[in-house]
Amino acid sequence: MRNVTGEQFAQVDNPDPFAAPVWRSPVYRTPELVIWIVRLIRLLGRVTWFALRHPLLDVTTGVVLLIWLNAGWLGLIALACFTLATLTGLRIWRPDWFARLVSVPARRRWRRWCYMRRWHGVMTIARLAPLYRGQIVFPLLDRVDVTGCTDRVRVKLVSGQSPADFADRADSLAHGFGALLCRIRSASPGALVLEFVRRDALAEPMSALPILPDADLRALPVGRREDGAPFLARLHGTHLLIAGATGAGKGSYVWSLVRAMLPLLLAGLVQVWACDPKLMELAFGRALFERHGRYAANPADIANLLEDAVADMQARALRFAGRQRDHQPTTDFPFIVIMVDEIAFLTAYQADRKLKDRTLAALATLTTQGRAVGYCVVAALQDPRKEVLNIRNLFPDKIALRLDEPAQVDMVLGDGARDRGAACDEISANPAIGAGVGFVRLETSPDPVRVRAAFVSDDDIRAMVTTSADQERGGAA
Ligand SMILES: Nc1ncnc2c1ncn2[C@@H]1O[C@H](COP(=O)(O)OP(=O)(O)OP(=O)(O)O)[C@@H](O)[C@H]1O
Ligand SMILES: [Mg+2]
Repeated sequence: MRNVTGEQFAQVDNPDPFAAPVWRSPVYRTPELVIWIVRLIRLLGRVTWFALRHPLLDVTTGVVLLIWLNAGWLGLIALACFTLATLTGLRIWRPDWFARLVSVPARRRWRRWCYMRRWHGVMTIARLAPLYRGQIVFPLLDRVDVTGCTDRVRVKLVSGQSPADFADRADSLAHGFGALLCRIRSASPGALVLEFVRRDALAEPMSALPILPDADLRALPVGRREDGAPFLARLHGTHLLIAGATGAGKGSYVWSLVRAMLPLLLAGLVQVWACDPKLMELAFGRALFERHGRYAANPADIANLLEDAVADMQARALRFAGRQRDHQPTTDFPFIVIMVDEIAFLTAYQADRKLKDRTLAALATLTTQGRAVGYCVVAALQDPRKEVLNIRNLFPDKIALRLDEPAQVDMVLGDGARDRGAACDEISANPAIGAGVGFVRLETSPDPVRVRAAFVSDDDIRAMVTTSADQERGGAA
């Protein structure tokens, strides 16, 4: 046995009664002077390290000290006035610079300090600080990024932890840090981002967006994202499925898209072929669609319209075969958007089996072959189950609005979307708060992003119809 010459030795305090005992090293009495010297050296080391890591603070302290030594308090007051005036001037002259250089870094530091203050307490109580060899190990709070309504907190995980551990504790984290909601975003191996929603940026309905003359089919402004950026939807080279329970606000997406494309409709570069089996949504703009496309409401007419679209599309494909792989809209060969409101009326609830099969076949052909020749299908759907729409996977882009059940979220946005924060079943059924709110998966990230479409009112639609009628009259005169 080894001889122990220290004063005492004891077992490390471990609350787990089944853990193997871990023994402290023997204790040796150190002279008090040595302790003070070591502490002093440590303090000096820390101060030097801090000074090295904060050069801006060093320069500022140096300048303040110099002025104080040379000009006393008056000099310091003059310096404060000068700084205030400079910042105010910058705020007025270049608000973007002011945000980048002053307000955003200051808010970032302030928010980081707020998280730091509660970090150990919340992590311990949420059981995210595991014990390792009798020691509590905390995940590391890394940088904090602040957007209008959300804070993105980067965390370095303790080895052996996974984002799923944090996802299970998302509610505790949100309450612990005083946020409305906490979403877990993946970052890199060993790290994750906690996204704390401090204020619902999408709580207020948005009125219809202004019509921009240079509309781009790859980025049509439809509404706003939660981080304050515009939500831009792509129609070129894709098909879009908008799923949401009744009253979820699918209409506002359909109309916001039409509104964003209006200049292209007027220029003859885009046509909208509207299928309106419910006779409620698109009927309002019937005159617009008949002028710049087509309109059909009863199921037989819709089947004919879709089959015409297939025939046109195939003729176009024959013409362009081997010559171009990507369609550029021209007045001879415009981009055709087939808008279908409540697609389930045609594919699932249609009693006439023949009609149903014709419609489904046409839709499947358009969605599989239309992309490269300038045909895009935009469909609205209440119930996303496979029995209702078995071709839902033929739509590359999807928007999920309020849904009745959590399981429906993954049916629309793909596996794991609900776990990654797309809580469509929790969107408010109150139209003022929740209508038009939904989640999308953008190309850049697997994490769903919360968005809200602008609300295009009946008056806005009437104004759009009038604009197109005026243009036609102007052209005829
Ligand atoms: N983006 C929005 N912002 C605010 N309110 C909206 C928005 N979109 C819709 N609403 C409100 O919600 C109501 C229902 O919207 P909408 O008719 O578009 O729902 P829907 O999803 O098409 O429902 P359904 O499937 O029954 O046709 C609208 O009458 C409107 O008052
Ligand atoms: Mg509708």
